[in-house]
Amino acid sequence: MMLEEIEFKKATLEDEEVIYELASNLDYTPSAILNDIEKNVFAHVELAFFKGSPIAILDYWITFDSATIAIIYVEQKYRRNNIASSLMKRMYETLMDEGVKNIALEVRKSNIPAKNLYIKEGFKEINVKSNYYADGEDAIYLVKEMPSTPLILAIESSCDETSISITRNKKILSNVISSQIERHRKFGGVMPELASRLHIENVLYVLDTALKEASVMLEEIDAFAFTRGPGLVGALHVGMEVAKSLAAIYDKPLIPVHHLAGHIYANEYVSELHFPLLACVVSGGNTELIIMKDHLDYEIVGRTVDDAIGECYDKVARVLGLPYPGGVEIDRLAKLGKPTYHLPIPHAFNKYDLSFSGLKTHIINLVNSLNMKGQEINKADLACSFQEVALKELVDKVYQVASDYEVKQILVAGGVSANSRLKEILNAHYKNSNIELFFPPLSLCGDNAAMIARNAYHLYEKKIFASLDIGVDPNWEITDFNKF
Ligand code: KG4
Repeated sequence: MMLEEIEFKKATLEDEEVIYELASNLDYTPSAILNDIEKNVFAHVELAFFKGSPIAILDYWITFDSATIAIIYVEQKYRRNNIASSLMKRMYETLMDEGVKNIALEVRKSNIPAKNLYIKEGFKEINVKSNYYADGEDAIYLVKEMPSTPLILAIESSCDETSISITRNKKILSNVISSQIERHRKFGGVMPELASRLHIENVLYVLDTALKEASVMLEEIDAFAFTRGPGLVGALHVGMEVAKSLAAIYDKPLIPVHHLAGHIYANEYVSELHFPLLACVVSGGNTELIIMKDHLDYEIVGRTVDDAIGECYDKVARVLGLPYPGGVEIDRLAKLGKPTYHLPIPHAFNKYDLSFSGLKTHIINLVNSLNMKGQEINKADLACSFQEVALKELVDKVYQVASDYEVKQILVAGGVSANSRLKEILNAHYKNSNIELFFPPLSLCGDNAAMIARNAYHLYEKKIFASLDIGVDPNWEITDFNKF
């Protein structure tokens, strides 16, 4: 049996039958466990299934900053398969999300295998509780200290979104995003000067809302993170100045975060990262294929030699008369069309590099000349034709890099990761492969501060902090993420 074949899930009242089945082997009554599921606000009950049958249960209680394991049980014949450890690993994530400082449990003195498991998990024997169990057996009381998880406040202001998020580990307590898009739309693109001004106007309101939503006070924050680059220089400055001021007032670390590293780490809210992985960063400003062999270890193996793919989507959308931002409009329109237009196949010299400007220029020229000749353009067909060629350029390189570097995962990141056709093509290609494919949840595809906070968490662990004289860097390279 493989661990991957085990399904873990949070118990609900619908698992009543399952609970009765498992409880027959426990000191606990089914009604006590069902009560934990339904009414006990401190309790968390997790189940493990193999081929649809319940095989393990974990019931633990979190009371403020400490936790207790009430039940941990794996059916006899499934023991020694790391199922208990996997249940505990899921529990540790939750404990870290909740800022729990220690976790305790009692185990029967005679239950040596269980005690050994806990010692292996980092629990320490504290004392013996004599006569603890109904049959008079003693209990050993064990406690494990949890690593402290910082409460991070992150600010993202690199382009036209003012966003502030407060997170603890992988728990997003708030992620407030104030988009300026409506204000830029009439210019057909982001106006840098206007963006900076709107960030200044919005940032304190966004900060206030983020704190209220998270029910957190500034005094409680352990570190202040901000997007240092790449992005619009004036826009970046606003976020940085707010982060600096807060770090100075509360005397807490200041963490500069690379915007693309943030986009990549948005995926960590949905999955653990397994290395080596390929991060495919596709946004309005960037198109990069990055190999990561470990956390915070980035190697850019391929990139666009000219326009970013999102920029190309936006320019093509503009020439077709679609509203800004055009990516999502092309995505929508392309579904209604067929790839009937013959467009040039992009070509870049380095085998992993990409190019989009030839394709863009061809379409602009084509549309202008058809307009001049008074010929009709089938916008849906042209959008579809463009999208097929642009995405083929991207996915062919993704396939190549993924296979050459023998990656375990592919993470798609950046605004264009919201594209439905890109998802469809990659999902179909990797459906039966052992490469895991991840797209961030739609809410974390665009610019947002939760993704900045997630990357900041890893920087915090490595103590990569900045002093208050740091400046922004609109052209910051991801490989220089720790140089400032
Ligand atoms: O990451 P992002 O929000 O901003 C930065 O560039 O940093 O990316 C925005 C880009 C825009 O070019 C937008 O047109 C594109 O992502 N985009 C899309 C889709 N949604 C957003 N492109 C294609 N299909 C989409 N569904």
